[in-house]
Amino acid sequence: MGMYNEIVMKHFMKPKNAGQMEDPDAVGSFGSPVCGDIMEISIKVKDGVITDAMFMTFGCGSAIASSSIATEMIKGKTLEEALRYTNDDFIAALGGLPAPKVHCSVLAEQAIRNAIYHYAQDHGLTLEGLAGYDPDEVDPHGELSND
Ligand code: FES
Repeated sequence: MGMYNEIVMKHFMKPKNAGQMEDPDAVGSFGSPVCGDIMEISIKVKDGVITDAMFMTFGCGSAIASSSIATEMIKGKTLEEALRYTNDDFIAALGGLPAPKVHCSVLAEQAIRNAIYHYAQDHGLTLEGLAGYDPDEVDPHGELSND
């Protein structure tokens, strides 16, 4: 475990926002084309602001740490603000991930995007940050097979 820094370890050992949300406003998921692991993110939204976020992740420690930090970061943000986060922002907030584990953070970016997409669909919203988003796209970064 020496390759992981303290922030990553903290979010892995004691993840925030883990579990199933009761009565979410939207749910999104993403399965990694690299490892087959899956992350599900649930959100509650009020007046365009994400008031709560929770995750269920069938994945490695880095995916769990990414889920934890990402759900913390999107709480209190508008949908557009949350859409602007990329996996690099989550990695930065975690103080870095080892290179072979970068793809694990993509699960958080994509599961969040997918949840917001479902919310926008249900509410007839057009969000700038979803322009060009295709929920069926498997390899959003085109770089996921490098480990
Ligand atoms: S999410 Fe599958 S190895 Fe990290």
